[in-house]
Amino acid sequence: MPEPLLAVRDVSKTYRVGRTEVAALRDVGLELHKGECLALVGESGSGKTTLGKLILGIEAPSAGTLHFAGERLPDRRARTLRRRLQFVQQNPMSALNPKRTIGDSIALPLAVHGLVPRARLRARAGELLGLVGMSADLLDRYPAMLSGGQRQRVALARALAAEPDCIVLDEPTSSLDVSVQARILQLLADLQARLGLSYIFITHDLGVVRNIAHRVVVLYRGRVVETGTTAAMFGRPRHRYTQMLLSSIPVVSDEEERLKPSWPWERDVAAAEVAAAVGCAFAPRCAYALDVCRREAPAFHPVSSGDGHACHCPG
Ligand SMILES: Nc1ncnc2c1ncn2[C@@H]1O[C@H](COP(=O)(O)OP(=O)(O)OP(=O)(O)O)[C@@H](O)[C@H]1O
Ligand SMILES: [Mg+2]
Repeated sequence: MPEPLLAVRDVSKTYRVGRTEVAALRDVGLELHKGECLALVGESGSGKTTLGKLILGIEAPSAGTLHFAGERLPDRRARTLRRRLQFVQQNPMSALNPKRTIGDSIALPLAVHGLVPRARLRARAGELLGLVGMSADLLDRYPAMLSGGQRQRVALARALAAEPDCIVLDEPTSSLDVSVQARILQLLADLQARLGLSYIFITHDLGVVRNIAHRVVVLYRGRVVETGTTAAMFGRPRHRYTQMLLSSIPVVSDEEERLKPSWPWERDVAAAEVAAAVGCAFAPRCAYALDVCRREAPAFHPVSSGDGHACHCPG
């Protein structure tokens, strides 16, 4: 196996809120290889965005290390490193200045990183629009004049302008209609194949990443509970939490309906808040929990080539 493009090792992140400490991530590890799309999946509050921010250098870890292209990532990133790791968020408006034309928005990273001569900025911005399936005629429009799908394409063009190795996509299609969502996912897959990009794809919905992710990391309350290839996750999910996530996604055929894990019931999430301190954090919600699950936190059991699960009673 070649050296990973990105390696996250034993990373924890704690936020102080007044006098209390919120553990957003605990001992998280993952590897992303060149050309790979790695999905980070979990419910709201599981730590997905926090992990994305640590990778991008927007936040610094409380413990643990991150390596990129073989080098330890410092908390304060030099410009070149910032260029190589780009961010696309759920709401494209947050990446685009409403007072700037989209041509100027795309030209900005080109100028900041000195990627093309001044005289070529506009032409290159037009090429980048073409790359995301939009016409260069739109260069002089403002973000408010575009549809949600078009804005997300512009945000992507802006990220691509920096010629990154890796893009952290945080719920990039969650605010879009289903048909638009499908086209953006197809565009992301095409761009990845064409440009050899690597993606960290953050989503709360496993169904979204089914056709684009190569591997999946499942987070529950700041911990990695299962990792595996997308085929393994959908074919034979082991962790009970992964099974619960999968039981709620829509399927396309009777065959899939038969294979899909069923989830007997869900316990009160409020109870999970109280009881999660000892044992498995998921035990209070788990239909299969044993006594040991409430006593001891499960260790990570490797299954194949680094992938595995942290569950006392896997399926
Ligand atoms: N700046 C912060 N200050 C305090 N707590 C924070 C901060 N950022 C995140 N948290 C807490 O860390 C935990 C993880 O948050 P995070 O935003 O990473 O979750 P997420 O998986 O991205 O959720 P969502 O799906 O809702 O976006 C949550 O409990 C959240 O309240
Ligand atoms: Mg988030």
